[in-house]
Amino acid sequence: MTTTPGTPDWLSANRANWDERVPIHTAGPFYDLPGFVAGRDSLRDFEPAEVGDVNGRTLLHLQCHMGLDTLSWGRRGAVVTGLDFSEPAVETARALAAQTGVTSARFVAADVHDAVQALDGQTFDIVYTGMGALCWLPDLTRWAQVAAALVAPGGFLYLAEYHPFADVLGEDGRTVAGDYFRRDANVYDEPGTYADPDAPMTATVTVEWLHGVGDVVTALAAAGLQVEFLHEHDRGHFRLPAEQGVPLVYSLRAAKAG
Ligand SMILES: C[S@@+](CC[C@H](N)C(=O)[O-])C[C@H]1O[C@@H](n2cnc3c(N)ncnc32)[C@H](O)[C@@H]1O
Repeated sequence: MTTTPGTPDWLSANRANWDERVPIHTAGPFYDLPGFVAGRDSLRDFEPAEVGDVNGRTLLHLQCHMGLDTLSWGRRGAVVTGLDFSEPAVETARALAAQTGVTSARFVAADVHDAVQALDGQTFDIVYTGMGALCWLPDLTRWAQVAAALVAPGGFLYLAEYHPFADVLGEDGRTVAGDYFRRDANVYDEPGTYADPDAPMTATVTVEWLHGVGDVVTALAAAGLQVEFLHEHDRGHFRLPAEQGVPLVYSLRAAKAG
């Protein structure tokens, strides 16, 4: 991984990069779209257990990428909306909704920071996000305010995310190779994606941030949500080996008073 100095226009750089990732992700085995259309569930096993029954509930998925997780909730009966800033991702999600028969699913293209306006002020029983979402956002205070505004009274936000400690681990999953407390932007310039590191790309610059678990909880509390639980998991990371005695994924639920 290479790092370049200076911070480019993070929103434009990241959007261009994600737009280019979509055809790579639809084509390769990582997301296994044929298997997904045939019925494969893309959620981690702890997620349905922690979220509970979603049947008939409205669920908004922020930064939904191609909508696999969104549609997995839809297959469980949730009335789902997905939002992502990448038009190609949203178009792919709409096509997958048609292919999987989740016909009530809606997908909206917008920057997550503009989600309240983009969704016309609608609120949701469940706001769901994660698995590689927060690292693209510079300011968790701002994100949490948006996310909290989207939760209906009596509803909750559910976040399942790669543990920031995993971000500072080397490939062996045990050796610390980075700085957990670095909060400056990390600017990378490299082709390929986690789904296909060798894929040729032109929009290769991305701007990312590491957000500590404490920062996430503090931002949600400041936005008025009440944290109900925070669980740390020793598995579920695409890059790192499981059960090495280190946290790889975490999940939390935070409620809005009714
Ligand atoms: C790793 S994906 C997470 C989705 C899901 N966990 C998955 O693996 O399919 C990150 C998503 O965030 C989206 N994204 C990044 N920055 C965004 C922003 N500012 N507003 C909306 N979407 C954004 C990207 O387009 C991408 O689809």
